[in-house]
This record gives sequence, structure tokens and C-alpha cells, in this order.
Amino acid sequence: MAKSKMILCVSFCLLLVINAYEVAPPAAIFIFGDSTVDVGTNSLLPASGARADFSPNGVDFPYSVPTGRFSNGLNSADQIVKLFGYHNSPPPFLYAVNHMSTFKRDILQGVNFASAGCGIFKDTGTKRWSEVVSLENQIQQFAAVRGNITAILGPKTTGTVLSKSLFIISIGSNDLFELKESFLNTTMEDLQIAYQNHLKNLYKLGARKFGIISVPPIGCCPYARVQSKDPSVCVKELNELAQIFFIEIQALLYKLSLNLKGMKYSLGNSYEMTMSIIEDPLAFGFKDVQSACCGSGKLNGENPCLFLEEPNLCSNRHQFLFWDFFHPTEFASQLAAQTLYGAGTRFVTPMNFSQLVAINV
Ligand SMILES: *[C@@H]1O[C@H](CO)[C@@H](O)[C@H](O)[C@H]1NC(C)=O
Ligand SMILES: *[C@@H]1O[C@H](CO)[C@@H](O)[C@H](O)[C@H]1NC(C)=O
Ligand SMILES: *[C@@H]1O[C@H](CO)[C@@H](O)[C@H](O)[C@H]1NC(C)=O
Repeated sequence: MAKSKMILCVSFCLLLVINAYEVAPPAAIFIFGDSTVDVGTNSLLPASGARADFSPNGVDFPYSVPTGRFSNGLNSADQIVKLFGYHNSPPPFLYAVNHMSTFKRDILQGVNFASAGCGIFKDTGTKRWSEVVSLENQIQQFAAVRGNITAILGPKTTGTVLSKSLFIISIGSNDLFELKESFLNTTMEDLQIAYQNHLKNLYKLGARKFGIISVPPIGCCPYARVQSKDPSVCVKELNELAQIFFIEIQALLYKLSLNLKGMKYSLGNSYEMTMSIIEDPLAFGFKDVQSACCGSGKLNGENPCLFLEEPNLCSNRHQFLFWDFFHPTEFASQLAAQTLYGAGTRFVTPMNFSQLVAINV
């Protein structure tokens, strides 16, 4: 009893602080997906090859600590929660679950389940990186957390809290890369069906507000560019997959919102957001939208940002769209987060994240 009172006080005091912001924050934020929103999950997977817990990753963090984020600093997950007034990004599930003294407080604010290299399909990333947490497993982990929240708040309050929470999902790039490289004998339709099952499972577990981030023009990342004859041109085939993916997910979300009572969503068009930067870099303050800041070889895109490879490291990081051969810089992530939070329907439909959170369900 005393314990749960203390927890209530903690969340109440937090609410007071957070209320100073324009939009009342979501009850909690749960984050799922791949390296675009991984805040350290894979650093806690001993066998995983998809990791960033080494320098120069994190070079712009206080003390230049590598945190497992594929970025020079914060990533999109961090930037979005910051816009909602959170001081701390929700911790990785694998961290929270091993820190019992803070576990209960952590889970009432949110948890980050994202794992670099993973995908919508269960097998995506496992060949290349040995160990990743698939979206299916991330949702199983959330089911456990939901049980833990229920043990603290009871079923009724838990239902209310989850219905007012924001569920962010940023996934799909790794599936599309593998689709193109034919690791998988599957189609876009299979991918849509798999995504649908994940969303339905989250809904059954109490999720109502879905903030979905689609796939950027992956054919324009340095990794893809350097594999084609002319690296100054994006790889068309990959970009087409990203565009089809957006259309499929948009149709899927619309259908689900008609069929699942109380289900609301906001779909960020990463393709459109990133393309608008690539087509007019200077308008956004970028000088280089082709090469990676950190890496080596052509466009710094032939090798990862890994100290063993003695990578180049740019000094003007806010002028680069790409941090390494796949991932955006902290500055690019910040722009993306601001767009998701508050932009119009060209970039985020049918409403932006702040409107999604403000809706009464
Ligand atoms: C959280 O839930 C899991 C799964 O039900 C359980 O094994 C674990 O002991 C719970 N943790 C706490 C701190 O209650
Ligand atoms: C791949 O998919 C095609 C069409 O569904 C099927 O005919 C074929 O047997 C599959 N190949 C493998 C290796 O699974
Ligand atoms: C999106 O978000 C902002 C900030 O919350 C809001 O004021 C605005 O009306 C929204 N923009 C559009 C075009 O819907």
C-alpha cells in the first residue's frame, strides 16, 4: 500500500512539471521498432552484431558516451518524447527489467522495446546480426510489462492509462532491404499481413493511439548509393519499395481504424520528409545529404562507423543528413521529430502526433 502511494505521488509530481507544456503529455510512451529508435536494447544482447555501443557513436552526448544509439547524439525516439515534455527517454526494456529499484517507476512512464536490425517479419535481421528482438518478441515483452502495470494499478486503471498512452512504432527498412536482397521469399502483401497482426495484438493488449513512422527513402542512404554505378543517384528500386510500403501501411491503418473501436493513429511519411530535405538541403541547413558523417570508403558509406575501421568523422555534424551509412544525424532526427509532432498532412496523416495525443478516447 505504502509503495503504491509513493508511485502515485511520483507520477503526480511529474504531471505537474509536464503540464507546463502546450499539449498534455500521453499517460505513457511505449516505443517499438528497429535501430531508428533503439536506445540501447542491442547493447544488452550479447550475441547481437547490430550494435552501436562504441565510439564515435554518441560523440555529441555529454562526455561523448556511446549509448547504443546509432547516432552522434539523440535519435528520433528521444526527440519525440522530449517534445512531449519528458526529461528522460523511456529506458530499454532489457535495462528496466534488470533494475528492480526503478522498474515500477519506469514502466509507468513508458518503455522502449526497439531493437536494431529487426523487422516486421520474425526472421528479419537474424541471419545478418545473429541476435535481434523481433517485433513479435517486443510485443510479448510489452505484454509482460502490461501485467506488471496491472499488478500496480489494477486492471481498470491500467486500461485507462494504456488507452491514453502513445505507442510509437518505427520499423520496415530492414524487411525491405532483405526483400530486395531476397533473403526472404516473401512479398509486400505478406509484410502488410504481418504488420496487421502486430497492430491487432497491441490493440488487444490495450493500445489505442498509434504513432507510426514509415520507411524513409532507403535507396538514398550511403550504404545503398555506393552499391550503384552512380552514387550521386538514389537506388530507385529500394525507394519504390519504401513508397509502396507507405501506401500499404496507410491503407492498413485506415482499415483498422474502421474496424477496431477507439483505435486512432498518426502516420508519419518518412519518405516525403526525407525527400524534401534531399531535394532542397540548404532550406533545412544541410550541406551534405549523400555521404555519411562517420564511416569510410566512397561517401563514407562502404564501412560502418566503427573505431576498428578507423572511420572518418566529420566535424560539422549538423550539416549532414546521415550519421553513418544507414542512420540520420541527431539534427536530422530532431527535424523528423518536430515534423511528426506538429506538421500538416503532407508529412503526417490524418493528424500529427500532438493531435493524436490530445484526442479523448
Ligand atoms: C513482471 O511480469 C513478469 C511476467 O508476468 C513477471 O515474471 C515478473 O516477475 C514481473 N515483475 C515484477 C517486478 O513484478
Ligand atoms: C518462393 O515462393 C514461390 C511463390 O510463392 C514458391 O513457388 C517457391 O517454392 C518459394 N521458394 C522457396 C525456396 O521457398
Ligand atoms: C499539428 O500540430 C500542431 C501543434 O500541436 C497544431 O497546432 C496543428 O494544428 C497541427 N497541424 C495540422 C496542419 O494539422
